[in-house]
Amino acid sequence: METTMSVAAQTVSRLSYSKGFETLDAEVEIDSLPVEGSIPEWLAGTLLRNGPAKFEVGEQAFNHWFDGLAMLHRFSFAAGSVSYANRFLRSKAYEAAEREGKISYSEFATDPCRSIFRRAATLFRPKITDNCNVNLTRLGDEYVAMTETPLPVAFDPETLETLGVAFRPPGIHATAHPHHDPERGELVAYVTHFGPRSEYRIFAQRDRATHRRIASKRVAEPSYMHSFALTERYAVLVAFPLVVNPLDLALSGRPFIENYKWKPELGTRVLVFDREDGDLRGFYEAEPRFSFHHVNAFERDGELTIDFAAYDDATIVDSLYLERLRSAPPPPAALARLLRYRVDLGSGRVAEEELCDAPLELPRIDYRERNGRPYRYTYGVGAPGVGDEDEFLDRLLKIDVVSGEATEWQEPGTFPGEPVFVPAPQRHGGEDEGVLLSVVLDAGAASSFLLVLDAEDLSELGRARVPHHIPFGFHGQYFS
Ligand SMILES: [Fe+2]
Repeated sequence: METTMSVAAQTVSRLSYSKGFETLDAEVEIDSLPVEGSIPEWLAGTLLRNGPAKFEVGEQAFNHWFDGLAMLHRFSFAAGSVSYANRFLRSKAYEAAEREGKISYSEFATDPCRSIFRRAATLFRPKITDNCNVNLTRLGDEYVAMTETPLPVAFDPETLETLGVAFRPPGIHATAHPHHDPERGELVAYVTHFGPRSEYRIFAQRDRATHRRIASKRVAEPSYMHSFALTERYAVLVAFPLVVNPLDLALSGRPFIENYKWKPELGTRVLVFDREDGDLRGFYEAEPRFSFHHVNAFERDGELTIDFAAYDDATIVDSLYLERLRSAPPPPAALARLLRYRVDLGSGRVAEEELCDAPLELPRIDYRERNGRPYRYTYGVGAPGVGDEDEFLDRLLKIDVVSGEATEWQEPGTFPGEPVFVPAPQRHGGEDEGVLLSVVLDAGAASSFLLVLDAEDLSELGRARVPHHIPFGFHGQYFS
């Protein structure tokens, strides 16, 4: 079965944003990027970002945005100036691609076309990719890049040098969106174990060696979940009805995600686990939805509120194949919107409410102060509304989740990525006192810049231009 696309078969796109899906080969280190406007002097840390940057290997091409080989980017701030470095993650998947000139590891939606014999041989010892191109975090004193496999890879935050697999989550399908528990100094995450008795497993990881199981739950057909929610008392898995028969993963020969099936008749299942004793506090049913990204969740007066960037179904997964992205952006009606579930923990009833009708993805909040608690603002990338001309994610968005009001930043011909909120060092009670950092593709210039916005009104403070384009990535974190 041909499950990789040949380079020659790729669509040559005339869409301006498609530069963001082109390979970047250059690795550079620059002491001072040219700055327009001004970068706040108090910004004195590092923004690390992750994303795919190589979409072809030899004569083969990856199929999906989520498949490309990982590259790390570092923006360091000091006294209003910005230094920059970028480097491919030297994962086993990357090293094998360099050495063999072909794709050797299965990715999210690309399979390197193994023979039936080799497929059978690897069935019980799957060759799992360590191409950690989704997100990154700090684990104890280390920095790790992550994807959805149980092989988070450590790296040096200054040189971006790869330092090897950091630890092994207890399952196969992991999340690249762990939460932080600042009181315990732990990461909290979940993983899906596939087998005759598949289960979801929620666990905590303090450092490479210190692992603690919090809860587990048997499941016949595991859901594809990309992130989860953590409140003060609960860990919440929202199991959308994009589900897999684990046998198909082992036997079908299809790339990972193509084994999952949309079964709206299952509805969405909200699993609420007590973080202290691991008990399943409840199992609640809601309308069928799909999501990659939780925004926030909190409990108040016997009610659990869960906010997420919600799709009506899982067709967005198909819209993000590279060939499709290079020929047309996903239509606005197919994009996610900010949805709220209000779960009555007594009656079990789930009420659904759309908080804002503007398309929203890659949502962020003031994580340190507000995660798991009532909050007011989320920031993300947006797109034109339904009825407007189709365009890729072309604006930054701030949504007041209380009023539903949206504020935008937009510049024609530019395509911003996930905005990371950095709180100002001295705040006067405003949740939005701080800046947003976003890497923006300037399609006309075929290069990218780091944009710094005032988070209160999304006005521009400054930008620092990079000498090349930065392919569209996913997530980053700011470390002070
Ligand atoms: Fe994500």
